[in-house]
Amino acid sequence: MQAFLYNRKGIPFFHQKTALEFQQDIYERYHEMVVRQSALHTADQLWGGYPFQPIFDFAEKHYSEAREINILEIGCGVGRWIATLAKHYPKSTCWGIDYSYQMLKRANEFWVKGQNISIDWTAKGLGQQFSTGEKLNNLKFGLAKAEQLPFEDNSQKIVVTSFLLDRLENPIKGLKEMYRVLKPTGKLIVISPLNFKKAEHWKLYYPPSQLSTVLKEIGFKVLDWNEDLIVNEPLDGRGNLLRWKCLGFVVEK
Ligand SMILES: C[S@@+](CC[C@H](N)C(=O)[O-])C[C@H]1O[C@@H](n2cnc3c(N)ncnc32)[C@H](O)[C@@H]1O
Repeated sequence: MQAFLYNRKGIPFFHQKTALEFQQDIYERYHEMVVRQSALHTADQLWGGYPFQPIFDFAEKHYSEAREINILEIGCGVGRWIATLAKHYPKSTCWGIDYSYQMLKRANEFWVKGQNISIDWTAKGLGQQFSTGEKLNNLKFGLAKAEQLPFEDNSQKIVVTSFLLDRLENPIKGLKEMYRVLKPTGKLIVISPLNFKKAEHWKLYYPPSQLSTVLKEIGFKVLDWNEDLIVNEPLDGRGNLLRWKCLGFVVEK
């Protein structure tokens, strides 16, 4: 693995994130993003269940039988998916990579240091929630960009990513990086609403059959493909929500 440049409060930086990059990154906005992501991903009691469970139900069928493997999540946010994998594979080495320091700091505090967090969602008509942290010793978090991963070629058995692909400046570059770090026969599991922000991305990757062609051109073999994976993201205590119609796919190197 590539050496990190420096370490900030337990988070290794593999990318030199400038002050301007910090300023421009909306995911560094603590109250808007970190608090919201923490409520969604670490306070199931607020919602009567985990709102993103359909992702896990889709992905679980494809998890590896091998137990001592390298697992990577890209765009891990506050770390729920990679922490779930770290618990499922206690003998494995798991890394959560994200571009936002604030997300990683929260993830590390909660899933590695075992700190409890208090989530106050009274402003959204919900209650206050205390969530209990965990101390997972096979899990690490680091700051890097999906387009330049700090891992060796052919080093990861499973790579997962959710709600990231359509946010990348260059999705093909990101997918090629994922291909590079995967071991032969390693699996990439992607969930994305394909809610692209740029006209050129819609042109390149939509309809999803075009994305499938891109994946095959990179060298992936498609194992599973579901264009109607519905994820309901709660907004408040009244039951308003964002309905995401996601593409879920699993490909093998
Ligand atoms: C919409 S959030 C999704 C978080 C989580 N995966 C989920 O499904 O809820 C997107 C995450 O991707 C991160 N991100 C955005 N661009 C990135 C990039 N180029 N490389 C790595 N992470 C990135 C953001 O910091 C943020 O934490």
